[in-house]
This record gives sequence, structure tokens and C-alpha cells, in this order.
Amino acid sequence: MLDYVSENREHLAEWEPRRPGYYYTLALWKQDLAAARAEFQRGQSFRLVLLRREELKGPIIGVCNFRNVVRGAFQACHLGYSMDYRFQGQGLMFEALSAAIRYAFEDLNLHRVMANYMPHNARSARLLDKLGFVREGFARDYLHIAGKWQDHVLTALTNPHWKSPFTP
Ligand SMILES: CC(C)(COP(=O)(O)OP(=O)(O)OC[C@H]1O[C@@H](n2cnc3c(N)ncnc32)[C@H](O)[C@@H]1OP(=O)(O)O)[C@@H](O)C(=O)NCCC(=O)NCCS
Repeated sequence: MLDYVSENREHLAEWEPRRPGYYYTLALWKQDLAAARAEFQRGQSFRLVLLRREELKGPIIGVCNFRNVVRGAFQACHLGYSMDYRFQGQGLMFEALSAAIRYAFEDLNLHRVMANYMPHNARSARLLDKLGFVREGFARDYLHIAGKWQDHVLTALTNPHWKSPFTP
């Protein structure tokens, strides 16, 4: 992860929150990945990394993070993702998210995955559209990205096969 964020620092700067210097240290990532594991065990998030089939030990070439899992009447989560700049535009994030969303719907029985993008993020818009995400709204000053509050298009994908735990 440290290699991934370090090598993609410039590429991701436009699309992510400003990162402090310690974001690029092993100590931070040891702590962060321990927290990710604990969150996964509590069912609060699942953060996945993309690996090439022929290099399953790495390097990491992308990430997709499903966070803020809420159960009860909502059964939903937020999705964020990024791809190593050297592997963009090959359909790899589409392939990865197709499988990850199948896991979220079929294995975790979530009902809604929400993903939001800045209007000028044409690649992200295209990717979500291809995956079947539907535009649900537009939020002004929604997330603090690249040092300022930025408007976002709000989209979501719902699971038509969601199973109620109360149905026999
Ligand atoms: C968004 C991102 C994850 C897409 O990853 P990717 O592996 O390139 O995605 P895919 O190749 O599966 O799909 C991208 C689509 O956008 C299209 N695309 C590429 N460049 C584009 C551009 N400049 N304008 C419009 N569409 C573009 C591709 O052609 C592809 O569509 P297609 O399959 O119909 O040809 C990657 O570009 C990235 O990491 N961006 C920076 C971080 C980011 O934006 N994260 C998301 C924040 S909401």
C-alpha cells in the first residue's frame, strides 16, 4: 500500500483529500491496515486491493473501498476506488468492481452501494454508468478534495435480489 500511494501520489492528488506527510510512511499503513482488518471483522467496511493474476503477491495496482456499512433498514455502504496510473483505461476497474459488487450483494446481502464523483471526473462517470449506477442527485460542496470543498454527482446501484432475513 505504501508503494501504491507513493507511486500514485501525483495521479491521485486531484481526486482525493490532501494527505499529510505521515500518510506516506510504513507506520501509518501498518496502523491503517490493522484498523481495516478490525473494521472488516466488525462488518463495518471491506477494503479490497487489485492484483494482477500473474502477480498475486503484488504490487497492488488499484484499490476499492466499501466503507460505512449500515445495516438495519438501510443495508447500504459507500464505495471509493482508484487505479494505478499505469493501468488505467484497460477495463480493469470495471472488472474488479463487477466482482466486488457481486460479493457485496450476493455474499454480504447489501441492498445499496453508493458512489459519488466530481462532475469533471469523466472516467469515473463512465465507469459507474457502465456498472449500472443510477444518478440520484447532486450535492454542492460535498467532499473536501484536493484542498477544497467540491460538488459531487451522487449515484447508487441497488440489489434486486436482496433477501430479507425474515423471509422463510
Ligand atoms: C476512475 C478510475 C478508477 C478508472 O479506472 P480504469 O481502470 O481506467 O477504469 P476502466 O478502464 O474500467 O473504465 C474507464 C472508462 O472511462 C473511459 N475513459 C478513459 N479516459 C476517459 C476520459 N478522459 N474521458 C471519458 N472517459 C474516459 C474508458 O474508455 C473506460 O470506458 P470504456 O470501457 O467504455 O472504454 C481511474 O481512472 C482512477 O484511478 N482515477 C483517479 C482516482 C479516481 O478518480 N477515483 C474515483 C473518484 S470518484
